[in-house]
Amino acid sequence: MSSITHSSAWKRLVRHKATLRSSLSNTRLWDDPRRIDSLSIGLHGLHADYSRNLITAETIRLLAALASAAGVPRQRRLLFEGGIVNGTEGRPALHTLLRAAPQDVPKGLEARANEVRVALARMRAFTDSMHASKRFTDVVNIGIGGSHLGPELVVDALRPLEGPRLKAHFLSNVDPMHLARSLRALDPARTMIVVTSKTFTTQETLANAQAARAWLVTALGESAVPEHFAAVSAAPDRAREFGIPPERVFAFWDWVGGRYSLWSAVGLPIALALGFDTFEALLRGAAHMDRHFCKAPLQRNLPVVLAMLGIWYANFWRASSRAVVPYRQDLRLLVPYLQQLEMESNGKRVDTKGRPVKYATAPVVWGDVGTNGQHAFFQHLHQGTQLVPVDFIAVLAEEAGHGRHQAMLLANCYAQAEALLRGRSLKEAARGGPAKLAAHRTFPGKRPSNLIVLERLDAENLGRLLALYEHRTFVQACVWDINPFDQMGVELGKHLAQGVLYALDSGDISAIADPATRAAVKRSRHE
Ligand code: F6P
Repeated sequence: MSSITHSSAWKRLVRHKATLRSSLSNTRLWDDPRRIDSLSIGLHGLHADYSRNLITAETIRLLAALASAAGVPRQRRLLFEGGIVNGTEGRPALHTLLRAAPQDVPKGLEARANEVRVALARMRAFTDSMHASKRFTDVVNIGIGGSHLGPELVVDALRPLEGPRLKAHFLSNVDPMHLARSLRALDPARTMIVVTSKTFTTQETLANAQAARAWLVTALGESAVPEHFAAVSAAPDRAREFGIPPERVFAFWDWVGGRYSLWSAVGLPIALALGFDTFEALLRGAAHMDRHFCKAPLQRNLPVVLAMLGIWYANFWRASSRAVVPYRQDLRLLVPYLQQLEMESNGKRVDTKGRPVKYATAPVVWGDVGTNGQHAFFQHLHQGTQLVPVDFIAVLAEEAGHGRHQAMLLANCYAQAEALLRGRSLKEAARGGPAKLAAHRTFPGKRPSNLIVLERLDAENLGRLLALYEHRTFVQACVWDINPFDQMGVELGKHLAQGVLYALDSGDISAIADPATRAAVKRSRHE
C-alpha cells in the first residue's frame, strides 16, 4: 500500500487547509450558535464540544473521509473480532473483550469471553473475602508502566471522600527512597502486596517484590508470604515460582497489551481499594464507549473525530505536542497515563511493513490539572510560538459541598478555552493599557481546544473517558499505518542497563562501549 499521504483524501485536506484561512478569520464562523451543536457529540454522562477547533464542517467531512481511506472501519472490526492487529508480535489486542457485555461478544470469541468471566468471578471472590476478613487495611501494588499507571489513576480519581475500602499504595520505581518511603508507613501485619507484571520479568518490579518480601519476612516470618502476597500476570508460572500460591495468582492473557490492561486482573488494586462493584461500573462505562465507537458513523464518532483532529494538527499544522488539562485534582494522574497510552503506542518511526514513515506520528502529550497549569505553562499556550491543541476536561457534579470552588473551577476552564480561541487583538490591547505594552498584551487567538465534560466523576464516566482515549490512539495508529501494540523502543536501554549494573557492582567497565557511560560509572563509584 502506498503512503496515506499519497491518497486523494490526504491531498484534499492539504488543499482544504490552504483555502481555510479566510473562513477561520471570519467572525461569523465562530459566532454562529449552530456551530456548537454541529460540532459536539453528547453521550450518556460525557459530552464533547470540539467547535473551538480550526475547522469547518467540511474539515470534519474530509477528515472522516481520510479515516475511511486509511481503513479505520476495517481495522476496527479486526480489533474487536480478535484479528492480528499487533503484527510484529502476531497477536490480537482484545482489551475490548475484557469489558464486553454478553450480547456484545463477537462470534468466535465466546471461549475467550468465558475465560474473562471466570477471571472476573475469581477477582470478585478474592476482593470480597479481603473486605469481609477486615484483616488488611492497606494494599501495595508493585508494578510499573501499564501495570501501575491505570490502576493508580482510577484509584486516585474515584476514592471516596470518607476513604477507600483498603488504602492503596503504588510502588513502581526502583528508586531506593521510593521503596523506603512506601514501606515505612505500613504495618506488615495489615498489608496485602499485589505484584503486577504482565511478563513477570520486569527488573524494577522484581527487585521491589523481593524487597517487599524481605520486609514482610523480617517482621512476620517466611510463613506470612502466601497470605500477604498476590500476583497478577500473563506469565502465572513465573508468579508461582516467586512463591505466590496458585489460588492467589490472577492470570490475564498475552492478547491484552500492558497499557490496555487495567480492565483485566491488573485492576485488582482498584477492586481492593474501591470495591468490585466500582470496578464493574468502570468496565460498563468503557463498554458503552466501545459500542459507540463500533456503531456511530465516522463523522459523529467521538474517538474517530478526536483522533482525526489530532491528525489534523500533527500532520497538517505541524503541531508537535498537545496538552491535556483536567479541571479536577482527582484526575491529576490522567496525563502520565495518557503519556504511556499515546506515546508508547504511537511513538513509532516505521510503518507496519517496517518502512520509515514520512510524516509525523504521536505528538508529545503533556499537561497538568487546572487551575494549577494556568499559573505555570498557560503563558506558553496563549502567547508562545508553537501551536499546542488542548483537551480541557471538566466535571459538572460537585460532591464535596463547596459549590463556590466548583463554580470558580468551571469558570476558569471555560474562560481559558475562550481566551485561547478568541485572543485579544493589538487594537484591543492598545485600548486597554499603555500603548508601548500593546504587543506584549496581545493574544493571537485561534488556538484550538476540545472541551470534554463529564456529568460526574464516577466509575462509569471514567471508563468512558479512558476507552475514548484508547480508541483515539488506535484510530491514529490506523491512519499512520503503525502498530500501536508493541513497544520495541524500550528494549535497548533495558538491555544496556544490565551491563551498566554489572559495571557499577564490579568496577569492570571493559564491556561498556560508550565513554560517557564509562565516565558516569567511574564517577558513581568515586574512582
Ligand atoms: O518497558 C515498557 C513496559 O514493557 C510497558 O509496556 C509495560 O507496561 C511495563 O514495561 C511493565 O511491564 P510488565 O507488566 O511486564 O512488568
